[in-house]
This record gives sequence, structure tokens and C-alpha cells, in this order.
Amino acid sequence: VRIDRSDMPLEDATPSELSAFTKGDVLFETVFRGADGLGPLYIRAACVGCHKDDGRGPGTVTRIGLDEAAQSHRATLLPLGDTVRPYFVTPAARPLLDGPLPQGARATHRWPPAVFGRGQMEAVSDAEIERLAEEAARRAGPIQGRIHRVAYHSESNPDQRYHRLSRNQAQLIGRFGLKARIATVDEFTADALQGDMGLTSPLRATEPTNADAATDDRKPGVDVTAEMVNAIADYVRLLAVPERLDHSDAGTALFTTVDCATCHVPRLKTRTDYPIAHLANTEVAVYTDFLLHDMGDALADDVPEGDASGSEWRTAPLIGLRFAPALMHDGRAKSVEQAILAHVGHGSEASESIAKFQKLPPEQRATLLRYVEGL
Ligand code: HEC
Ligand code: HEC
Repeated sequence: VRIDRSDMPLEDATPSELSAFTKGDVLFETVFRGADGLGPLYIRAACVGCHKDDGRGPGTVTRIGLDEAAQSHRATLLPLGDTVRPYFVTPAARPLLDGPLPQGARATHRWPPAVFGRGQMEAVSDAEIERLAEEAARRAGPIQGRIHRVAYHSESNPDQRYHRLSRNQAQLIGRFGLKARIATVDEFTADALQGDMGLTSPLRATEPTNADAATDDRKPGVDVTAEMVNAIADYVRLLAVPERLDHSDAGTALFTTVDCATCHVPRLKTRTDYPIAHLANTEVAVYTDFLLHDMGDALADDVPEGDASGSEWRTAPLIGLRFAPALMHDGRAKSVEQAILAHVGHGSEASESIAKFQKLPPEQRATLLRYVEGL
């Protein structure tokens, strides 16, 4: 089978994995309503609202960046958090941050990453990412990179196939989110249900803060079950990576010569005990090092997250790029070439790599672009 769509299951999925995939697929596309526990505040009513065909958009998330002077007063200026939540259901009566902003504040937009291939990303072994961080620490030159160490911020998942983490367990390797703020796919799912849709679960039982001090919505108590969270998480894990279109040796070589491969690491080994057997003890091609890089002033959103600063971002995984309507965290680039040029800026670790790209003769630049467009 040729995986030439962004919404296909892993080619070697077992019958029981396929049945989990189908269950999660339905929930991923479900439009939740007030009676289902949507709200009190929400951004969109369905995962597909922001991950159409498991990709990017059309919905986005708006966060509030603060200039340098305002940054140290973040907690006072934005006491209810920095995420804009434009929609509400009773008992809430107003949106959050969907109006005039305090002095020194600006709205910054986050385009959702795609969700396919995230099982492959979760399967990568910690040792591989630690190795890349050590190599980065020893490296002379502008390209650095560090692990975003994060804590598990949910209640324990009753389904212990993937991990046995308990609340506040710290020092995990952040992998998911544009600033690598979450370690596992199931925690990200619970976080998305809670934060983007106002759907509480046993993993995340509290509604996001709001200006009306509403602590519940039209459905009393927890809105979705742990089984539902895990069904959606399994669906995400079982989504295949769309097939690569360009396997040219010339493209592969140029990707390394101009240092793209230093951050967008082409191949990584996976855990031997990953529960999806087909993804265990193998190599995956997700084109990221999972590390945070300082991308400089031009890409900064001035929204620090955990230990990640306002200008640090996780290396974007380069998979299925042809399905993305726009590139970079805020969708500012409409083509791969624009995305490459957008890496340049004061303080960006990638500026030298992009200068090397620009010095390539035109036909080599075209070869590299064709290669990246086909990833
Ligand atoms: C309102 C828009 C919106 C909705 C609704 C939404 N997402 Fe997302 N999603 C995003 C954004 C924006 C990000 C990047 C978040 C970040 O940087 O922390 C993201 C990131 C993710 C990631 C991490 C991908 C990566 O590369 O690290 C996963 C997995 C994910 N979403 C799954 C889901 C699931 C499952 C649902 C439904 C329960 C959902 N999302 C609903 C906007 C949304
Ligand atoms: C210092 C590490 C680093 C280097 C070197 C680097 N990148 Fe990136 N790349 C990133 C980060 C971090 C992002 C995400 C930035 C953002 O979203 O604002 C990114 C994003 C991208 C994107 C957009 C992906 C998406 O999903 O929106 C493309 C395409 C890309 N890089 C290609 C390249 C190519 C080609 C090269 C070599 C010419 C390169 N990068 C060099 C770190 C790097």
C-alpha cells in the first residue's frame, strides 16, 4: 500500500490496532456540544477543527506574548493564563483575552503541527535524544540544542501500557508541542481536550480558568472517560507517516552538507519495548532532534513555556510537508523555500546553515528544495 494520504493507519497495524484506530478516529472527528461537557470556555469543538485530515489547521491557537518590560509581570498582567479562548457556554458568560490587551502585550498565533507519525516520535528512545543533546553540548559553532525537561502534569493513566507516570513526576524528555512541553501522546491528548475544548477527563479533571470563575459546564463532573482519552491517543499513535517522494542521493547529501540534518536528524532508533510492536526496536525517519533551539528575535513569540524561552522552539519534524497549508509555528511561510529563509534572524542558531543554503548554485538549491518538499 502506498501511504499517500495524511490520515492512514500504519501499514503493518494488527487487527486489534486497526480496531483501536477506528474507535479513536470517530472521537477525533466528533464535534462536542455543551451537553457533552464542551466548555465553559473553548477554542474549537473538535480535534479535526484544528487538525483537518490529521494535519495543520484550519483552527489555530492564539497566545499572548509580552515585550521585555512586561515579561516579568506576566502573572499580574495575565492572571488567568495567556491562551485566548474565544467561545463559551453557560455558566461562563464571556471569552478570555478576546479583546483589548494590556500594555506591552501582543497576540501571537500557533499553527497546529500535524498529528500523524506521533507514535513514531513517541517510540524514539530517550538514549537517542540524550546522545543528540550531548553532541550538541560538545559542538563548537552556532548550532546548540538542549532537552526540554518537563514534568507529568496529569493524574496517572489507568491504562499503563505506555508508562506508569504519576502526577508531578519530573525530569521527563519533552517531545510534543511546539516547545516540547509534554512527554507523551496520551498526556497531550488530555491536555488538548482540556485546554482547547474544555473537556475534562480523569487525567485532567479541572476546567481551565476563566473570568466568570466557572468551575464546571453543562455536564456535571468529568466530561470524557480515560478510555476515550486513550482511544484518541492510540489513533494518533497509529497514524502513518506519508510516504517520502524524493529519495535522491544528491538531495540527501546536500541536506547534511548545509547542516539541516544537524537539527532535522533524519533517522533515530526506537525503544525496544514500545507497545506498538511494529515501531519497537527499529529506526524512524522523523527529521527532528526533539531539542529546543534558540531561533532568534525574528521567530520569537515571547511566550515562555516551562524552561523554554520566548525564542526557543523544538526542531519541527519534517514529515508529510506537502500536506501542510503553511509552515513554521505561526504559518508565516507558504513554501519550503520561505520556511528555510525564515530561519534567519538575530540570535538564530540556524542563520549559518541558511547562509550555506543561499550560497549553493541554483541547481543544487533546487535539488535540496525538491528533497525537503518530498519529505
Ligand atoms: C484550537 C485548535 C486545536 C484543537 C481543537 C486541538 N489541537 Fe492539537 N494542537 C494545536 C496546537 C496549536 C498545537 C501546538 C501546541 C503547543 O505548542 O503546545 C497542537 C499540538 C498537538 C499535538 C502535538 C503534535 C506535536 O508535533 O508535538 C497533538 C498530538 C495534538 N495536538 C493532538 C490533538 C488532539 C488529539 C486533539 C483533540 C482532543 C487536538 N489536538 C485538538 C491546536 C489544536
Ligand atoms: C538550529 C537548528 C535548525 C537548523 C540548522 C535548521 N532548522 Fe529547520 N527548523 C528548526 C526549528 C526549531 C523549526 C521550527 C521553527 C518555527 O516553527 O518557528 C524549523 C522549521 C523548519 C521547517 C518548517 C516545518 C514546519 O512544519 O512548519 C522547514 C521546512 C525546515 N525547518 C527546513 C530546514 C532546512 C531545509 C534546513 C537546512 C537548510 C533547516 N531547516 C535548518 C531548526 C533548524
